[in-house]
Amino acid sequence: MPSIAAQLRTLPALTGDLPDVDPFSLSADPAQAFVDWLLAAIDVGAPEPHALGVSTVDADGQPRSRIVLLTDVADGCWRFATDGRSGKAQDLQGEPRCALTMYWQPLGRQVRIVGRAEQVSEAERRADFLARSPSARASLLAGVPGASLSSVDQMQQQVRRARDRVDREPGLVADDWQVWSVRAEEVEFWQGVSDRGHMRLHYRWDGVRWDRRLIAP
Ligand SMILES: Cc1cc2nc3c(=O)[nH]c(=O)nc-3n(C[C@H](O)[C@H](O)[C@H](O)COP(=O)(O)O)c2cc1C
Repeated sequence: MPSIAAQLRTLPALTGDLPDVDPFSLSADPAQAFVDWLLAAIDVGAPEPHALGVSTVDADGQPRSRIVLLTDVADGCWRFATDGRSGKAQDLQGEPRCALTMYWQPLGRQVRIVGRAEQVSEAERRADFLARSPSARASLLAGVPGASLSSVDQMQQQVRRARDRVDREPGLVADDWQVWSVRAEEVEFWQGVSDRGHMRLHYRWDGVRWDRRLIAP
């Protein structure tokens, strides 16, 4: 049986149909360039192209990453939603600086964002919650994220009770539901290239405008 290291070495990477990108054809506005790449990923059928890696740090400087779903890109900000009692929300309440990462495999494209998160307005928070299906709302209302459970049954019972509540009160919005909006300070686009150096285009907000440069991969 080959070692894990040996098996990993045989795995191909950047196997998709990698587009040839002229870096300076990307929009000078990184949020627009991101939307263009996101739409291209949707067009080629990239699986779950809205899966977004979010990295935060806690009060002790301990970093943690997890996947969430990107819910919008608007006004130069990237948005996602979560429970205010979750680890990520607690981290962001103490330290709003965070990092976001996306990878679209069929295109060999990665985007990395560094910025500051803040919560959206009460009206937008409510609208996000109410736009979710009744079963999604029930599972979001069912328990406290990270709380210990004595059994799988206990969780299922909590979801069933929450579902009854959602059916009785269709306008109900979970008090702890939060939508976070990350204003970017740096955005980096990376395009894998099969037979040449990969492309990295880095945008940095200098306080007035976006400074954009091509950097070594
Ligand atoms: C594909 C996928 C999508 C997810 N979407 C979300 C999401 O939108 N919001 C969220 O809070 N958690 C989402 N999760 C769960 C998180 O990755 C994480 O496990 C959970 O939020 C607890 O993380 P935390 O304790 O670090 O806050 C998703 C997980 C996966 C795999």
